[in-house]
Amino acid sequence: MGIIFNEKSREFHLFNNNISYIIKILKNNQLGQLYFGRKIHQKENYDYLFEYAYRPMSAYMYEGEYEFSLEHIKQEYPSYGTTDFKYPAYEIIQNNGSRITNFEYIEHKIYGGKPKLKGLPATYTESDAEADTLEIKLYDKEIDVELVLNYTIFNNESAIARSCRFTNKGKESLELTNAMSMCLDLPDCNYEMIQLSGAWAREREVRHRKLEQGIQAINSTRGNSGHNHNPFIALKRPNADEFQGEALGFSLIYSGNFLAQIEVDTHDVSRVLMGINPFGFTWNLGENEEFQTPEAVIVYSDKGVNGVSQTYHKLYRTRLARGQWRDKVRPILINNWEATYFDFTEDILLEIARTAKDDGIELFVLDDGWFGARSGETSGLGDWYANTDRLPNGISGLSRKIEELGMKFGLWFELEMVNKDSELYRNHPDWIIKTPNRSSSHGRNQYVLDFSRNEVVDYIFEMVDKNLSESSISYIKWDMNRCITECYSAALPSYKQGEVFHRYILGVYDLYERLINKHPYILFESCASGGGRFDPGMLYYAPQCWTSDDSDAIERIKIQYGTSYVYPISSMGAHVSITPNHQLFRNASLETRGNVAYFGAFGYELDLTKLTKEEHEIIKKQVKFVKEYRELIQKGTFFRLQSPFESNISAWMVVSEDEKEAIVAYFKVLNDVNCPFRRMKLYGLNENLLYSVKEISSSSKESRNSDININSDKFNSYYGSELMNLGLITTDPSAGQVLDDGETCTDYWSKIYVIRAKEK
Ligand code: DGJ
Repeated sequence: MGIIFNEKSREFHLFNNNISYIIKILKNNQLGQLYFGRKIHQKENYDYLFEYAYRPMSAYMYEGEYEFSLEHIKQEYPSYGTTDFKYPAYEIIQNNGSRITNFEYIEHKIYGGKPKLKGLPATYTESDAEADTLEIKLYDKEIDVELVLNYTIFNNESAIARSCRFTNKGKESLELTNAMSMCLDLPDCNYEMIQLSGAWAREREVRHRKLEQGIQAINSTRGNSGHNHNPFIALKRPNADEFQGEALGFSLIYSGNFLAQIEVDTHDVSRVLMGINPFGFTWNLGENEEFQTPEAVIVYSDKGVNGVSQTYHKLYRTRLARGQWRDKVRPILINNWEATYFDFTEDILLEIARTAKDDGIELFVLDDGWFGARSGETSGLGDWYANTDRLPNGISGLSRKIEELGMKFGLWFELEMVNKDSELYRNHPDWIIKTPNRSSSHGRNQYVLDFSRNEVVDYIFEMVDKNLSESSISYIKWDMNRCITECYSAALPSYKQGEVFHRYILGVYDLYERLINKHPYILFESCASGGGRFDPGMLYYAPQCWTSDDSDAIERIKIQYGTSYVYPISSMGAHVSITPNHQLFRNASLETRGNVAYFGAFGYELDLTKLTKEEHEIIKKQVKFVKEYRELIQKGTFFRLQSPFESNISAWMVVSEDEKEAIVAYFKVLNDVNCPFRRMKLYGLNENLLYSVKEISSSSKESRNSDININSDKFNSYYGSELMNLGLITTDPSAGQVLDDGETCTDYWSKIYVIRAKEK
């Protein structure tokens, strides 16, 4: 395991037990890409992989060369204009107007561990033995610029983290107009591309398309990663599925404008590019200044798309998320947003909290509306002090009373925003992002504070810090409810305006970092109108994120399923809400609402004081279930079993690391009649272990077998080999009357199965 450099062949081989990545220093001293995929044997020389040819009339040769054309060579970090016509990984505009560059290999370093990225979120190691890093230094002597390509291979994960750094060593300033985090030239295009796209309230729908000659891309131009596309793409072989076959993942650890693009060229080479969106981006690189790109993480799996996801889950849960909450089970929370919206008083909140406490809920979260003159969407944002008309005892008084109930207290902020009707705006009208002499568009009546300015970030830090110092706050929901328009900073000169989007995100990261450093015990949940900034960048600061403003359980099956392509279960805020649901007006049972929300950072978001006694009984059972199994759910290996995008039935499961315990969730959206007998193949169990299978029900009626001791012989027992080969019997009452226990199947039906290895 590690990174080997062969002096003679001038090749780098990065490998662990699962993957290999091979780079070659070409004869023009640029870098060629030879291979990324399943591990191959270490050899001194892979020259045979370096293919080039003279292609009549379709290749342009290096001066003095007859076979060497970059157009036909797979490269590591290509530029445009010197015989390669594909979209490049970077572009630098020089003082004479030229964009032609020539970065040549100078030296490299190989060492254990992984360096930090200044000001940016990134994966990390806890010891130098966990990963190896290769830094390749390249230099363009004409413009005196150094380029360092960083590669970290994790020893136990099929993943490589990549980023780049440009440093201007010369006297003249240059214009960086493109600086991708990674480029990968793959030798063929026999792939389907998977993207996670959608909109507000239907985020991260799984979409597939076949790669074709030309460009296929997703991006964000909105200032945040956005609801529309997630900074992730996967490539899978046409015959690969969730469980088998080759698949590659590309994920960008960044929360702003991004581009993920695949260009298939005329000879079927597929160039994958990922990084900050070059559209609208420029970065002025002055003397001795450097520009660090965000990090991209590429993953290889020969165990299908689940394999890609499981690698991301583990890496992002344990080596991207940080801090005290990374490994702790997450508190069960009650959030008042869908219960009261803006219409609350301290008494109403305390009544909800008391009821929640009674049901076993652990954390009370006060959402929007507690501050300044906030009585609706038009005022108050920016004034982060309590509205004493509603909360006469302030946040400190309310938080104390909540803690006296035996619960923790959490609070909502939307720190990047301001309403014009606020003290903050009246005092600092020039602090918003707006273009001089142009109209300023609003979103939800609010404006974006210019977080590219240190004094703005300092001011907001002071305000939040004051709240945190005066009150007992254990959790913060950090919301962000609009994108950036008329992007311009009053504090920057004209030639730096192309930097504002990125500087804004650096300001957001800076504020997070400062708050975390000063208040490390706080559990942060990020949010952007639901899942508008559900990206790996945020995960570095906030280990969980409000997955979507769509709280309907049936829609959430799809949203959580799609989100699981990259993000661990522990990161998905998932709440049980009221029926009829506020977004879909649907009436899923309380049991099904719980069964979906179990697979996330679990909570409730409804007025508990309005529920019946029976409903509280169900909630108490759900809370008990979560307390018993949340460790397994948050940390187990997650398998998607059946896609809600493809059928009326969907399922997923989590398995403990020791393979002794698993939970399966099975959903049937619409009921059917006289339906087939059904089985669902399970994964990740030990084929030789004998397991008991127990259906769990939180409904008031006990489900079949629920009182049977899980280790008793009378209980349904199956070997792992049975459950994984013939499957778990999931036949439901709509198949006939054999299961004559009075149970009926309805629309929005679901089941939870707890599977446990029997004690020998
Ligand atoms: C959007 C969030 O996604 C909701 O959960 C809620 O916090 C509202 N904002 C409050 O304005």
